[in-house]
Amino acid sequence: MVEDAPQRGGEITCGDDPRITCVGRLLRKAKLDELPQLFNVLKGDMSLVGPRPEVPRYVEMFRSDYEEILTVRPGITDPASILYRDESALLGQAADPEQEYIQRILPEKIAIAKRYVREQSLRTDVAVIFATVASLVSDRLRPIVSWVSRPVQDGSGEPSSLIPKERAPMNVPFFRVSMSDAEIDEVVACLRSGWLTTGQRCRQFESELAASVGARHAVAVNSCTAALHLAVEALGLRAGQAVLVPTMTFAATAEVVRYQGAVPLLVDCDPATLNIDLADAERKIADLKQGRTPLDPSLEVVGIMPVHYGGLMVDMDEVNTFAVGHGLWVVEDAAHALPAAYRSGATGAWRRCGENTAAVTCFSFYANKTITTGEGGMAVTEDAKLAERIRQMSLHGLSHDAWKRYSGGSWDYRIVAPGYKYNLTDVAAAIGIHQLRRAEAMRRRREAIAIHYCESLGELEAAEMPPLSEDRLHSWHLFPLRLRLERLAIDRDGFIEALRARGVCCSVHWRPLHLHPYYAETFGWQPQHLPAASEVWKRLVSLPLFPDMRDEEIDHVIRAVRGICLGNAISVRPHLAA
Ligand SMILES: Cc1ncc(COP(=O)(O)O)c(C=O)c1O
Repeated sequence: MVEDAPQRGGEITCGDDPRITCVGRLLRKAKLDELPQLFNVLKGDMSLVGPRPEVPRYVEMFRSDYEEILTVRPGITDPASILYRDESALLGQAADPEQEYIQRILPEKIAIAKRYVREQSLRTDVAVIFATVASLVSDRLRPIVSWVSRPVQDGSGEPSSLIPKERAPMNVPFFRVSMSDAEIDEVVACLRSGWLTTGQRCRQFESELAASVGARHAVAVNSCTAALHLAVEALGLRAGQAVLVPTMTFAATAEVVRYQGAVPLLVDCDPATLNIDLADAERKIADLKQGRTPLDPSLEVVGIMPVHYGGLMVDMDEVNTFAVGHGLWVVEDAAHALPAAYRSGATGAWRRCGENTAAVTCFSFYANKTITTGEGGMAVTEDAKLAERIRQMSLHGLSHDAWKRYSGGSWDYRIVAPGYKYNLTDVAAAIGIHQLRRAEAMRRRREAIAIHYCESLGELEAAEMPPLSEDRLHSWHLFPLRLRLERLAIDRDGFIEALRARGVCCSVHWRPLHLHPYYAETFGWQPQHLPAASEVWKRLVSLPLFPDMRDEEIDHVIRAVRGICLGNAISVRPHLAA
Protein backbone atom coordinates (compact mmCIF):
# COMPACT_ATOMS: atom_id res chain seq x y z
CA MET A 1 0.00 0.00 0.00
CA VAL A 2 1.36 3.39 -0.94
CA GLU A 3 0.08 6.46 0.77
CA ASP A 4 0.44 10.11 -0.07
CA ALA A 5 1.74 10.75 3.41
CA PRO A 6 4.05 13.47 4.77
CA GLN A 7 7.66 12.61 4.07
CA ARG A 8 8.95 10.79 7.12
CA GLY A 9 11.42 8.07 6.15
CA GLY A 10 10.18 7.78 2.58
CA GLU A 11 6.71 7.72 1.11
CA ILE A 12 5.62 4.14 1.49
CA THR A 13 4.00 2.74 4.58
CA CYS A 14 4.57 -0.79 5.78
CA GLY A 15 4.54 -3.00 8.87
CA ASP A 16 4.11 -0.90 12.02
CA ASP A 17 4.54 2.52 10.42
CA PRO A 18 3.39 5.05 13.07
CA ARG A 19 1.75 7.18 10.39
CA ILE A 20 -1.05 4.64 10.04
CA THR A 21 -3.96 5.44 12.38
CA CYS A 22 -5.75 2.82 14.51
CA VAL A 23 -8.77 2.91 12.21
CA GLY A 24 -6.53 2.59 9.19
CA ARG A 25 -4.78 -0.38 10.76
CA LEU A 26 -8.14 -2.04 11.45
CA LEU A 27 -9.37 -1.44 7.90
CA ARG A 28 -6.11 -2.75 6.54
CA LYS A 29 -6.29 -5.89 8.63
CA ALA A 30 -9.80 -6.55 7.34
CA LYS A 31 -8.57 -5.64 3.86
CA LEU A 32 -11.33 -3.04 3.71
CA ASP A 33 -9.15 0.04 3.50
CA GLU A 34 -10.15 0.78 -0.07
CA LEU A 35 -13.88 0.73 0.69
CA PRO A 36 -14.16 4.47 1.50
CA GLN A 37 -13.03 5.03 -2.08
CA LEU A 38 -16.42 3.74 -3.23
CA PHE A 39 -17.61 7.28 -2.58
CA ASN A 40 -15.21 8.49 -5.30
CA VAL A 41 -16.59 5.85 -7.66
CA LEU A 42 -20.14 7.07 -7.03
CA LYS A 43 -18.95 10.64 -7.64
CA GLY A 44 -17.45 9.49 -10.96
CA ASP A 45 -13.86 10.41 -10.00
CA MET A 46 -12.74 6.78 -9.95
CA SER A 47 -13.62 3.46 -11.55
CA LEU A 48 -14.14 0.20 -9.73
CA VAL A 49 -11.32 -1.27 -11.79
CA GLY A 50 -8.37 0.80 -12.92
CA PRO A 51 -4.72 1.43 -12.12
CA ARG A 52 -4.23 2.39 -8.47
CA PRO A 53 -3.21 6.01 -7.82
CA GLU A 54 0.50 6.40 -7.10
CA VAL A 55 2.64 8.86 -5.12
CA PRO A 56 3.38 11.86 -7.41
CA ARG A 57 7.14 11.54 -6.86
CA TYR A 58 7.07 7.96 -8.14
CA VAL A 59 4.87 8.97 -11.05
CA GLU A 60 7.49 11.58 -11.93
CA MET A 61 10.27 8.94 -11.72
CA PHE A 62 8.52 6.76 -14.30
CA ARG A 63 6.88 9.60 -16.19
CA SER A 64 6.86 8.04 -19.66
CA ASP A 65 5.16 4.88 -18.33
CA TYR A 66 2.57 6.89 -16.41
CA GLU A 67 1.74 8.96 -19.48
CA GLU A 68 0.13 5.79 -20.81
CA ILE A 69 -1.26 4.53 -17.49
CA LEU A 70 -2.93 7.86 -16.70
CA THR A 71 -4.95 7.76 -19.91
CA VAL A 72 -7.53 5.69 -17.99
CA ARG A 73 -9.37 6.57 -14.78
CA PRO A 74 -7.79 5.28 -11.56
CA GLY A 75 -9.60 2.44 -9.83
CA ILE A 76 -10.12 0.82 -6.45
CA THR A 77 -8.63 -2.41 -7.62
CA ASP A 78 -6.53 -3.67 -10.51
CA PRO A 79 -4.50 -6.79 -11.36
CA ALA A 80 -1.43 -5.41 -9.56
CA SER A 81 -3.41 -4.91 -6.33
CA ILE A 82 -4.42 -8.58 -6.41
CA LEU A 83 -0.85 -9.71 -6.94
CA TYR A 84 0.46 -7.36 -4.25
CA ARG A 85 -2.36 -7.68 -1.72
CA ASP A 86 0.27 -8.53 0.93
CA GLU A 87 2.60 -5.70 -0.16
CA SER A 88 2.68 -4.11 3.27
CA ALA A 89 4.00 -7.31 4.86
CA LEU A 90 6.42 -7.81 1.98
CA LEU A 91 7.89 -4.36 2.41
CA GLY A 92 8.04 -4.82 6.16
CA GLN A 93 10.58 -7.63 5.61
CA ALA A 94 12.83 -5.57 3.35
CA ALA A 95 15.99 -3.98 4.72
CA ASP A 96 15.13 -0.76 2.89
CA PRO A 97 11.40 -0.74 2.06
CA GLU A 98 11.64 2.44 -0.02
CA GLN A 99 14.33 0.96 -2.26
CA GLU A 100 12.53 -2.37 -2.45
CA TYR A 101 9.42 -0.55 -3.59
CA ILE A 102 11.11 1.72 -6.17
CA GLN A 103 13.44 -0.84 -7.62
CA ARG A 104 11.49 -4.06 -7.53
CA ILE A 105 7.78 -3.76 -6.81
CA LEU A 106 6.87 -0.53 -8.58
CA PRO A 107 8.42 -1.53 -11.95
CA GLU A 108 6.43 -4.77 -11.83
CA LYS A 109 3.21 -2.95 -10.93
CA ILE A 110 3.79 -0.52 -13.79
CA ALA A 111 4.27 -3.39 -16.25
CA ILE A 112 1.01 -4.97 -15.08
CA ALA A 113 -0.84 -1.62 -15.18
CA LYS A 114 0.36 -0.91 -18.73
CA ARG A 115 -0.84 -4.26 -19.86
CA TYR A 116 -4.19 -3.70 -18.19
CA VAL A 117 -4.52 -0.33 -19.98
CA ARG A 118 -3.74 -1.94 -23.34
CA GLU A 119 -6.09 -4.90 -22.92
CA GLN A 120 -8.89 -3.40 -20.83
CA SER A 121 -12.40 -4.65 -21.65
CA LEU A 122 -15.62 -5.45 -19.81
CA ARG A 123 -14.44 -9.04 -19.53
CA THR A 124 -11.09 -8.09 -17.94
CA ASP A 125 -12.82 -5.73 -15.47
CA VAL A 126 -15.31 -8.40 -14.40
CA ALA A 127 -12.40 -10.81 -14.02
CA VAL A 128 -10.51 -8.35 -11.84
CA ILE A 129 -13.55 -7.72 -9.61
CA PHE A 130 -14.11 -11.47 -9.16
CA ALA A 131 -10.45 -12.06 -8.46
CA THR A 132 -10.31 -9.20 -5.96
CA VAL A 133 -13.32 -10.50 -4.05
CA ALA A 134 -12.01 -14.04 -4.17
CA SER A 135 -8.60 -13.00 -2.89
CA LEU A 136 -10.19 -11.04 -0.03
CA VAL A 137 -12.65 -13.71 1.03
CA SER A 138 -10.57 -16.84 1.12
CA ASP A 139 -7.64 -18.64 -0.38
CA ARG A 140 -10.07 -21.49 -0.99
CA LEU A 141 -11.69 -19.39 -3.69
CA ARG A 142 -8.47 -19.40 -5.69
CA PRO A 143 -10.05 -21.65 -8.38
CA ILE A 144 -12.42 -18.78 -9.16
CA VAL A 145 -9.41 -16.52 -9.61
CA SER A 146 -7.91 -19.05 -12.01
CA TRP A 147 -11.14 -19.38 -13.94
CA VAL A 148 -11.76 -15.67 -14.44
CA SER A 149 -8.15 -14.97 -15.26
CA ARG A 150 -7.78 -17.80 -17.77
CA PRO A 151 -5.58 -17.06 -20.78
CA VAL A 152 -6.18 -14.02 -22.95
CA GLN A 153 -4.17 -12.98 -25.98
CA ASP A 154 -1.32 -10.57 -25.18
CA GLY A 155 0.58 -8.28 -27.54
CA SER A 156 3.17 -10.92 -28.41
CA GLY A 157 0.50 -13.26 -29.73
CA GLU A 158 1.15 -15.72 -26.92
CA PRO A 159 -1.80 -16.50 -24.65
CA SER A 160 -1.23 -15.40 -21.07
CA SER A 161 -3.31 -14.29 -18.12
CA LEU A 162 -3.86 -10.59 -17.51
CA ILE A 163 -3.90 -11.29 -13.78
CA PRO A 164 -0.50 -12.81 -12.98
CA LYS A 165 -0.80 -15.88 -10.77
CA GLU A 166 2.53 -15.29 -9.07
CA ARG A 167 5.22 -12.69 -8.92
CA ALA A 168 7.37 -14.19 -11.65
CA PRO A 169 9.83 -11.46 -12.64
CA MET A 170 10.52 -11.10 -16.34
CA ASN A 171 13.88 -12.29 -17.63
CA VAL A 172 15.37 -10.38 -20.53
CA PRO A 173 18.35 -12.14 -22.14
CA PHE A 174 21.29 -10.12 -23.45
CA PHE A 175 20.58 -11.52 -26.90
CA ARG A 176 18.15 -13.87 -28.60
CA VAL A 177 18.79 -14.90 -32.18
CA SER A 178 16.28 -13.93 -34.87
CA MET A 179 15.66 -16.88 -37.20
CA SER A 180 12.97 -16.99 -39.88
CA ASP A 181 11.51 -19.94 -41.76
CA ALA A 182 13.57 -18.92 -44.80
CA GLU A 183 16.85 -19.71 -42.98
CA ILE A 184 15.44 -22.97 -41.62
CA ASP A 185 14.11 -24.11 -45.00
CA GLU A 186 17.42 -23.28 -46.70
CA VAL A 187 19.38 -25.29 -44.12
CA VAL A 188 17.04 -28.23 -44.65
CA ALA A 189 17.46 -27.91 -48.43
CA CYS A 190 21.23 -27.83 -47.95
CA LEU A 191 21.14 -30.95 -45.77
CA ARG A 192 19.02 -32.73 -48.38
CA SER A 193 21.31 -31.62 -51.22
CA GLY A 194 24.12 -33.92 -50.13
CA TRP A 195 26.68 -31.06 -50.13
CA LEU A 196 27.46 -29.73 -46.67
CA THR A 197 30.90 -28.15 -46.83
CA THR A 198 32.12 -25.14 -48.84
CA GLY A 199 30.17 -25.07 -52.10
CA GLN A 200 27.56 -23.25 -54.13
CA ARG A 201 25.76 -21.74 -51.15
CA CYS A 202 29.04 -20.22 -49.91
CA ARG A 203 29.63 -18.74 -53.35
CA GLN A 204 26.10 -17.31 -53.40
CA PHE A 205 26.53 -15.85 -49.90
CA GLU A 206 29.84 -14.29 -50.93
CA SER A 207 28.49 -12.65 -54.08
CA GLU A 208 25.31 -11.38 -52.37
CA LEU A 209 27.28 -9.95 -49.45
CA ALA A 210 29.82 -8.32 -51.80
CA ALA A 211 26.93 -6.69 -53.70
CA SER A 212 25.22 -5.53 -50.51
CA VAL A 213 28.29 -3.69 -49.18
CA GLY A 214 29.62 -2.60 -52.60
CA ALA A 215 32.80 -4.70 -52.62
CA ARG A 216 34.48 -6.41 -55.58
CA HIS A 217 35.61 -9.62 -53.86
CA ALA A 218 34.37 -11.54 -50.82
CA VAL A 219 35.72 -14.69 -49.18
CA ALA A 220 33.55 -16.56 -46.67
CA VAL A 221 35.39 -18.06 -43.70
CA ASN A 222 34.45 -19.65 -40.40
CA SER A 223 34.93 -16.55 -38.19
CA CYS A 224 35.82 -12.88 -38.26
CA THR A 225 38.99 -13.84 -36.40
CA ALA A 226 39.94 -16.07 -39.35
CA ALA A 227 39.17 -13.24 -41.79
CA LEU A 228 41.35 -10.82 -39.80
CA HIS A 229 44.16 -13.37 -39.61
CA LEU A 230 44.03 -14.11 -43.33
CA ALA A 231 43.96 -10.37 -44.09
CA VAL A 232 47.12 -9.55 -42.14
CA GLU A 233 48.79 -12.70 -43.49
CA ALA A 234 47.96 -11.70 -47.07
CA LEU A 235 49.38 -8.23 -46.39
CA GLY A 236 52.66 -9.87 -45.36
CA LEU A 237 52.68 -9.01 -41.65
CA ARG A 238 55.69 -10.56 -39.88
CA ALA A 239 57.90 -10.47 -36.80
CA GLY A 240 59.68 -7.17 -36.21
CA GLN A 241 56.62 -5.21 -37.26
CA ALA A 242 53.90 -3.45 -35.25
CA VAL A 243 50.25 -2.68 -35.99
CA LEU A 244 48.13 0.11 -34.46
CA VAL A 245 45.27 -1.67 -32.67
CA PRO A 246 42.66 0.02 -30.45
CA THR A 247 42.91 -1.12 -26.85
CA MET A 248 39.10 -0.91 -26.73
CA THR A 249 38.40 -4.09 -28.67
CA PHE A 250 37.83 -7.81 -28.42
CA ALA A 251 40.72 -10.28 -28.14
CA ALA A 252 40.57 -11.17 -31.87
CA THR A 253 41.82 -7.85 -33.30
CA ALA A 254 45.15 -8.04 -31.49
CA GLU A 255 45.69 -11.79 -31.35
CA VAL A 256 45.88 -12.13 -35.14
CA VAL A 257 48.80 -9.69 -35.07
CA ARG A 258 50.49 -11.99 -32.57
CA TYR A 259 49.75 -15.05 -34.77
CA GLN A 260 52.13 -13.47 -37.31
CA GLY A 261 54.81 -12.80 -34.67
CA ALA A 262 54.17 -9.03 -34.90
CA VAL A 263 53.21 -6.73 -31.99
CA PRO A 264 50.04 -4.67 -31.42
CA LEU A 265 50.85 -1.02 -30.68
CA LEU A 266 47.83 -0.19 -28.52
CA VAL A 267 45.92 3.04 -29.11
CA ASP A 268 43.52 4.84 -26.77
CA CYS A 269 39.84 5.47 -27.53
CA ASP A 270 37.75 8.56 -28.05
CA PRO A 271 35.70 8.58 -24.83
CA ALA A 272 32.53 9.70 -26.66
CA THR A 273 32.42 7.16 -29.51
CA LEU A 274 34.73 4.54 -27.91
CA ASN A 275 36.36 4.23 -31.36
CA ILE A 276 40.09 4.51 -32.03
CA ASP A 277 41.52 7.98 -31.27
CA LEU A 278 43.62 8.94 -34.31
CA ALA A 279 45.34 11.75 -32.39
CA ASP A 280 46.55 9.12 -29.93
CA ALA A 281 47.59 6.85 -32.84
CA GLU A 282 49.80 9.72 -34.05
CA ARG A 283 51.24 10.12 -30.55
CA LYS A 284 51.83 6.38 -30.16
CA ILE A 285 53.90 6.22 -33.38
CA ALA A 286 56.07 9.10 -32.10
CA ASP A 287 56.23 7.63 -28.57
CA LEU A 288 57.30 4.24 -29.94
CA LYS A 289 60.24 5.75 -31.83
CA GLN A 290 61.29 7.80 -28.80
CA GLY A 291 61.09 4.83 -26.41
CA ARG A 292 58.09 6.23 -24.52
CA THR A 293 55.97 3.09 -24.92
CA PRO A 294 56.79 -0.24 -23.28
CA LEU A 295 57.50 -1.73 -26.76
CA ASP A 296 60.81 -2.20 -28.58
CA PRO A 297 61.48 1.16 -30.38
CA SER A 298 62.98 -0.67 -33.37
CA LEU A 299 59.56 -2.11 -34.35
CA GLU A 300 58.39 -0.96 -37.78
CA VAL A 301 54.75 0.24 -37.74
CA VAL A 302 53.10 -1.15 -40.89
CA GLY A 303 49.32 -1.14 -40.41
CA ILE A 304 46.26 0.06 -38.54
CA MET A 305 43.15 -1.95 -37.61
CA PRO A 306 40.21 0.29 -36.69
CA VAL A 307 37.19 -1.32 -34.99
CA HIS A 308 33.71 0.16 -35.45
CA TYR A 309 32.67 -0.07 -31.81
CA GLY A 310 29.12 -1.37 -31.50
CA GLY A 311 28.50 -0.57 -35.18
CA LEU A 312 29.20 3.18 -35.05
CA MET A 313 31.65 3.68 -37.90
CA VAL A 314 35.00 5.38 -37.53
CA ASP A 315 35.40 8.04 -40.25
CA MET A 316 37.31 5.90 -42.75
CA ASP A 317 38.32 8.97 -44.80
CA GLU A 318 40.29 10.13 -41.78
CA VAL A 319 41.74 6.67 -41.16
CA ASN A 320 42.84 6.31 -44.79
CA THR A 321 44.40 9.80 -44.86
CA PHE A 322 46.24 8.96 -41.66
CA ALA A 323 47.37 5.62 -43.10
CA VAL A 324 48.64 7.16 -46.34
CA GLY A 325 50.54 9.77 -44.31
CA HIS A 326 52.34 7.05 -42.38
CA GLY A 327 52.67 4.46 -45.17
CA LEU A 328 50.34 1.97 -43.45
CA TRP A 329 47.86 -0.57 -44.74
CA VAL A 330 44.33 -0.62 -43.23
CA VAL A 331 42.45 -3.74 -42.14
CA GLU A 332 38.99 -2.92 -40.87
CA ASP A 333 37.59 -4.98 -37.99
CA ALA A 334 33.95 -4.64 -38.98
CA ALA A 335 32.72 -7.44 -36.70
CA HIS A 336 29.89 -5.15 -35.49
CA ALA A 337 29.27 -3.15 -38.65
CA LEU A 338 26.97 -4.99 -41.05
CA PRO A 339 25.22 -2.99 -42.30
CA ALA A 340 26.76 0.37 -41.42
CA ALA A 341 27.78 3.48 -43.35
CA TYR A 342 29.12 7.01 -42.90
CA ARG A 343 29.00 10.24 -44.88
CA SER A 344 32.24 10.59 -46.75
CA GLY A 345 34.32 13.58 -47.81
CA ALA A 346 33.22 16.97 -49.00
CA THR A 347 30.17 15.64 -50.89
CA GLY A 348 28.81 13.85 -47.85
CA ALA A 349 27.88 10.83 -49.97
CA TRP A 350 27.07 7.68 -48.01
CA ARG A 351 29.83 5.09 -48.02
CA ARG A 352 29.07 1.59 -46.79
CA CYS A 353 31.38 -0.33 -44.50
CA GLY A 354 33.31 -2.57 -46.92
CA GLU A 355 32.86 -0.28 -49.92
CA ASN A 356 36.61 0.06 -50.48
CA THR A 357 36.90 1.48 -46.98
CA ALA A 358 40.08 -0.53 -46.24
CA ALA A 359 42.54 -2.92 -47.89
CA VAL A 360 40.45 -5.69 -46.32
CA THR A 361 37.20 -5.39 -44.33
CA CYS A 362 36.27 -8.28 -42.02
CA PHE A 363 32.72 -9.08 -40.84
CA SER A 364 31.55 -11.48 -38.13
CA PHE A 365 28.58 -13.82 -38.21
CA TYR A 366 29.03 -15.09 -34.66
CA ALA A 367 25.75 -16.11 -32.96
CA ASN A 368 25.02 -12.72 -31.36
CA LYS A 369 26.19 -10.50 -34.23
CA THR A 370 24.00 -8.33 -36.48
CA ILE A 371 23.58 -11.27 -38.86
CA THR A 372 24.63 -14.78 -37.98
CA THR A 373 25.62 -18.13 -39.40
CA GLY A 374 26.24 -19.55 -35.89
CA GLU A 375 29.97 -19.07 -36.39
CA GLY A 376 31.27 -17.39 -39.51
CA GLY A 377 32.97 -14.42 -41.09
CA MET A 378 33.75 -12.74 -44.39
CA ALA A 379 36.70 -10.80 -45.78
CA VAL A 380 35.92 -8.28 -48.54
CA THR A 381 38.40 -6.35 -50.66
CA GLU A 382 38.84 -4.51 -53.96
CA ASP A 383 42.20 -6.20 -54.52
CA ALA A 384 42.00 -9.43 -56.57
CA LYS A 385 45.44 -10.61 -55.42
CA LEU A 386 44.61 -10.16 -51.75
CA ALA A 387 41.30 -11.97 -52.30
CA GLU A 388 43.08 -14.86 -54.02
CA ARG A 389 45.65 -15.22 -51.24
CA ILE A 390 42.96 -15.06 -48.55
CA ARG A 391 40.89 -17.73 -50.33
CA GLN A 392 43.87 -20.00 -50.86
CA MET A 393 45.11 -19.71 -47.26
CA SER A 394 41.59 -20.29 -45.91
CA LEU A 395 41.83 -23.86 -47.23
CA HIS A 396 45.27 -25.30 -46.43
CA GLY A 397 47.06 -23.16 -49.04
CA LEU A 398 45.81 -25.48 -51.78
CA SER A 399 45.88 -24.46 -55.41
CA HIS A 400 42.18 -25.42 -55.87
CA ASP A 401 39.45 -25.46 -53.29
CA ALA A 402 37.55 -28.61 -52.37
CA TRP A 403 34.36 -27.55 -54.09
CA LYS A 404 36.10 -27.19 -57.46
CA ARG A 405 37.82 -30.54 -56.95
CA TYR A 406 34.65 -32.43 -56.06
CA SER A 407 32.26 -30.85 -58.54
CA GLY A 408 33.82 -31.81 -61.80
CA GLY A 409 37.20 -30.07 -61.50
CA SER A 410 40.55 -31.78 -61.50
CA TRP A 411 41.43 -34.26 -58.73
CA ASP A 412 44.87 -32.71 -58.68
CA TYR A 413 45.94 -29.81 -56.50
CA ARG A 414 49.19 -28.29 -55.23
CA ILE A 415 50.07 -27.10 -51.74
CA VAL A 416 51.47 -23.65 -52.42
CA ALA A 417 51.72 -22.51 -48.76
CA PRO A 418 51.09 -23.95 -45.27
CA GLY A 419 47.57 -22.55 -45.00
CA TYR A 420 44.73 -22.87 -42.50
CA LYS A 421 41.37 -24.64 -42.21
CA TYR A 422 39.18 -21.55 -42.10
CA ASN A 423 36.57 -22.26 -44.81
CA LEU A 424 32.84 -21.75 -44.15
CA THR A 425 30.39 -24.63 -44.64
CA ASP A 426 27.40 -24.50 -46.98
CA VAL A 427 25.16 -25.33 -43.99
CA ALA A 428 26.29 -22.07 -42.36
CA ALA A 429 26.05 -20.13 -45.64
CA ALA A 430 22.44 -21.34 -46.00
CA ILE A 431 21.62 -19.41 -42.82
CA GLY A 432 23.73 -16.42 -43.89
CA ILE A 433 22.01 -15.96 -47.29
CA HIS A 434 18.66 -15.28 -45.63
CA GLN A 435 20.04 -13.40 -42.64
CA LEU A 436 21.71 -11.04 -45.11
CA ARG A 437 18.37 -10.38 -46.83
CA ARG A 438 16.88 -9.39 -43.46
CA ALA A 439 19.96 -7.41 -42.35
CA GLU A 440 18.54 -3.92 -42.97
CA ALA A 441 15.12 -4.76 -41.47
CA MET A 442 16.82 -6.12 -38.33
CA ARG A 443 19.09 -3.04 -38.17
CA ARG A 444 16.03 -0.75 -38.34
CA ARG A 445 14.37 -2.56 -35.47
CA ARG A 446 17.55 -2.29 -33.36
CA GLU A 447 17.79 1.39 -34.27
CA ALA A 448 14.19 1.98 -33.17
CA ILE A 449 14.88 0.25 -29.84
CA ALA A 450 18.12 2.23 -29.37
CA ILE A 451 16.32 5.52 -30.02
CA HIS A 452 13.55 4.50 -27.61
CA TYR A 453 16.19 3.72 -24.96
CA CYS A 454 17.79 7.14 -25.53
CA GLU A 455 14.45 8.94 -25.26
CA SER A 456 13.37 7.03 -22.17
CA LEU A 457 16.68 7.07 -20.30
CA GLY A 458 18.34 10.20 -21.67
CA GLU A 459 17.21 12.47 -18.88
CA LEU A 460 18.75 10.29 -16.15
CA GLU A 461 21.59 12.10 -14.45
CA ALA A 462 23.41 8.87 -13.63
CA ALA A 463 23.68 7.52 -17.19
CA GLU A 464 25.08 8.84 -20.44
CA MET A 465 23.58 7.58 -23.70
CA PRO A 466 25.67 6.46 -26.70
CA PRO A 467 26.08 9.20 -29.32
CA LEU A 468 23.55 9.56 -32.16
CA SER A 469 24.84 11.07 -35.38
CA GLU A 470 23.20 12.21 -38.62
CA ASP A 471 26.42 11.26 -40.40
CA ARG A 472 26.25 7.60 -39.51
CA LEU A 473 24.07 4.68 -40.45
CA HIS A 474 24.58 2.85 -37.16
CA SER A 475 24.28 -0.94 -37.12
CA TRP A 476 23.42 -0.79 -33.38
CA HIS A 477 25.07 -4.08 -32.54
CA LEU A 478 25.59 -2.72 -29.01
CA PHE A 479 23.88 -0.19 -26.77
CA PRO A 480 26.64 0.91 -24.39
CA LEU A 481 25.48 3.01 -21.43
CA ARG A 482 28.16 5.04 -19.69
CA LEU A 483 27.34 5.42 -16.00
CA ARG A 484 28.18 8.68 -14.24
CA LEU A 485 29.58 6.96 -11.20
CA GLU A 486 29.92 10.23 -9.27
CA ARG A 487 26.09 10.38 -9.29
CA LEU A 488 25.57 6.81 -8.13
CA ALA A 489 25.94 5.13 -4.76
CA ILE A 490 26.94 1.87 -6.48
CA ASP A 491 29.72 1.03 -8.94
CA ARG A 492 29.35 -0.51 -12.41
CA ASP A 493 29.54 -4.09 -11.12
CA GLY A 494 26.90 -3.29 -8.49
CA PHE A 495 24.75 -1.82 -11.24
CA ILE A 496 25.07 -5.00 -13.32
CA GLU A 497 24.26 -7.09 -10.24
CA ALA A 498 21.14 -4.96 -9.62
CA LEU A 499 20.08 -5.42 -13.25
CA ARG A 500 20.61 -9.16 -12.98
CA ALA A 501 18.48 -9.24 -9.80
CA ARG A 502 15.71 -7.63 -11.88
CA GLY A 503 16.08 -10.25 -14.60
CA VAL A 504 17.99 -8.10 -17.07
CA CYS A 505 21.15 -9.65 -18.54
CA CYS A 506 23.75 -7.22 -19.73
CA SER A 507 27.43 -7.24 -20.61
CA VAL A 508 30.54 -5.05 -20.74
CA HIS A 509 32.35 -4.22 -23.97
CA TRP A 510 35.13 -4.36 -23.05
CA ARG A 511 37.86 -4.62 -20.44
CA PRO A 512 40.49 -2.89 -22.63
CA LEU A 513 43.29 -5.09 -23.94
CA HIS A 514 46.03 -3.39 -21.88
CA LEU A 515 44.21 -4.38 -18.67
CA HIS A 516 44.36 -8.09 -19.54
CA PRO A 517 47.21 -10.10 -18.01
CA TYR A 518 48.66 -11.20 -21.36
CA TYR A 519 49.14 -7.68 -22.76
CA ALA A 520 50.05 -6.10 -19.41
CA GLU A 521 52.61 -8.78 -18.48
CA THR A 522 54.07 -9.60 -21.92
CA PHE A 523 54.45 -6.02 -23.13
CA GLY A 524 54.30 -3.93 -19.95
CA TRP A 525 51.26 -1.80 -20.81
CA GLN A 526 50.07 0.28 -17.84
CA PRO A 527 46.72 2.09 -17.33
CA GLN A 528 48.42 5.49 -17.72
CA HIS A 529 49.55 4.64 -21.27
CA LEU A 530 45.88 4.53 -22.33
CA PRO A 531 44.09 6.84 -19.89
CA ALA A 532 40.74 7.35 -21.66
CA ALA A 533 40.02 3.61 -22.02
CA SER A 534 41.33 2.94 -18.50
CA GLU A 535 38.76 5.38 -17.13
CA VAL A 536 35.74 4.83 -19.36
CA TRP A 537 35.58 1.03 -19.24
CA LYS A 538 34.74 1.16 -15.51
CA ARG A 539 31.53 2.95 -16.47
CA LEU A 540 30.40 0.78 -19.39
CA VAL A 541 27.31 -1.40 -19.41
CA SER A 542 25.84 -2.86 -22.63
CA LEU A 543 22.05 -3.23 -22.43
CA PRO A 544 20.13 -5.99 -24.26
CA LEU A 545 19.49 -4.98 -27.88
CA PHE A 546 18.26 -7.45 -30.46
CA PRO A 547 15.66 -7.28 -33.22
CA ASP A 548 13.23 -9.80 -31.74
CA MET A 549 13.00 -7.94 -28.40
CA ARG A 550 9.36 -7.76 -27.35
CA ASP A 551 7.87 -4.43 -26.31
CA GLU A 552 7.38 -5.60 -22.74
CA GLU A 553 11.04 -6.69 -22.60
CA ILE A 554 12.16 -3.24 -23.77
CA ASP A 555 9.86 -1.59 -21.19
CA HIS A 556 11.20 -3.90 -18.50
CA VAL A 557 14.83 -2.95 -19.27
CA ILE A 558 13.94 0.76 -19.21
CA ARG A 559 12.13 0.48 -15.89
CA ALA A 560 14.96 -1.56 -14.38
CA VAL A 561 17.60 0.98 -15.44
CA ARG A 562 15.46 3.92 -14.26
CA GLY A 563 14.68 2.24 -10.95
CA ILE A 564 18.34 1.46 -10.26
CA CYS A 565 19.57 4.91 -11.32
CA LEU A 566 16.92 6.77 -9.33
CA GLY A 567 17.03 4.42 -6.37
CA ASN A 568 20.81 4.79 -6.08
CA ALA A 569 21.14 8.42 -7.10
CA ILE A 570 23.50 10.16 -4.72
CA SER A 571 21.36 13.31 -4.74
CA VAL A 572 18.30 11.50 -3.25
CA ARG A 573 20.28 9.86 -0.46
CA PRO A 574 20.11 12.72 2.09
CA HIS A 575 16.33 12.86 1.59
CA LEU A 576 15.94 9.13 2.21
CA ALA A 577 18.14 9.23 5.29
CA ALA A 578 16.27 12.20 6.80
C1 LIG B 1 35.44 -6.28 -32.44
C2 LIG B 1 35.45 -7.76 -32.70
N1 LIG B 1 36.34 -8.26 -33.57
C3 LIG B 1 36.39 -9.57 -33.86
C4 LIG B 1 35.54 -10.45 -33.25
C5 LIG B 1 35.66 -11.91 -33.54
O1 LIG B 1 34.55 -12.38 -34.24
P1 LIG B 1 34.40 -13.96 -34.47
O2 LIG B 1 33.80 -14.52 -33.23
O3 LIG B 1 33.48 -14.07 -35.64
O4 LIG B 1 35.74 -14.50 -34.74
C6 LIG B 1 34.60 -9.99 -32.32
C7 LIG B 1 33.69 -10.92 -31.67
O5 LIG B 1 32.97 -10.63 -30.77
C8 LIG B 1 34.56 -8.61 -32.04
O6 LIG B 1 33.68 -8.10 -31.15
